[in-house]
Amino acid sequence: MTRERIVTGGALTPDEDLVQFSLRPRALREYIGQAELKNKLEILISAAKGRGEPVEHILLYGPPGLGKTTLAHIIANEMGSKIISTSGPALQRAGDLMGILTNLNEGDILFIDEIHRLSPVIEDFIYPAMEDFKVDFVVDKGAFAKVINVPLKRFTLVGATTRAGMLSAPLRDRFGLYYHIDFYPPAELEEIIVRSAQLLDISISREAAAIIAVRSRGTPRIANRLLRRVRDYATVKANGQITPESAGFSLDSEGIDAMGLDQMDRKLLKIVVEYYKGGPVGIEELGATLSEEVDTLVDMVEPYLLKIGFIQRTKRGRMVSAEAARHLGLKLPGSTAQETLF
Ligand code: ADE
Repeated sequence: MTRERIVTGGALTPDEDLVQFSLRPRALREYIGQAELKNKLEILISAAKGRGEPVEHILLYGPPGLGKTTLAHIIANEMGSKIISTSGPALQRAGDLMGILTNLNEGDILFIDEIHRLSPVIEDFIYPAMEDFKVDFVVDKGAFAKVINVPLKRFTLVGATTRAGMLSAPLRDRFGLYYHIDFYPPAELEEIIVRSAQLLDISISREAAAIIAVRSRGTPRIANRLLRRVRDYATVKANGQITPESAGFSLDSEGIDAMGLDQMDRKLLKIVVEYYKGGPVGIEELGATLSEEVDTLVDMVEPYLLKIGFIQRTKRGRMVSAEAARHLGLKLPGSTAQETLF
């Protein structure tokens, strides 16, 4: 079910990746939103360039689809350097990483997505690379084993993760800079939609863009996806006219409601309200009841519900807010106590 979810911040298919890639801003000045982060990056990049040095290692963290990969590419572009991209799960053996590291030139960016999923072996291997720009590589076995110390060029590691808390402390400590990317407000998503529509040659009014923006869960990747769905719907059902009405109908027909919630969100909230009487319920138990992986709930479903205050994470488990129950047309079972929580 999760794989077909159109409101997930994760990428859906390789085809979609291509479209999303074509919409990516390539320079900081084209990047919409995250003003504070953009300012910090601007200073960082211009200072590093002024000194003729690479930027420090950077950790970007935040929910999927908010622009971590885009920012890594922008940093490389702005620095005038090359970027090599890989991911935590793709790096299986030290040899894989050794090949990548030894091919890096001065100032190159090594981008590691899902860096919280690096294996412990690779982590140990990467520490001296990050800290001292060298790797210790063991050749041969047993009595013939030798450690070869290989110097590396000064590169910048940009790590991305949806869960900073899952990074080991030693790895986290080796990043000089940490930047959190938060959900985008609707006004910024509206700008992103208007920009993407121009690039894709789609004619759309501000009002229609605003309708899509509020249903995009604060996530540019979802906004760009919904824009294309709305365009398709308008082509087939509304003479190609993307109006606020056709945009609304199109998203309703996809099961995406006025808050951007889909069936999965509503199912989760409904179960907590009706079955667990509003909570608290442990995430493991919730996963089992919904037949969903806990990781999926934590990475893909919960963050936005937490952001809009529809659920709250407590020591005893997840609780649903009175506002969320109201949104679903339900009532939290007889508790004024719950209401005062929010
Ligand atoms: N496309 C996706 N994210 C974007 C952003 N932050 N700014 C401009 N275009 C985007």
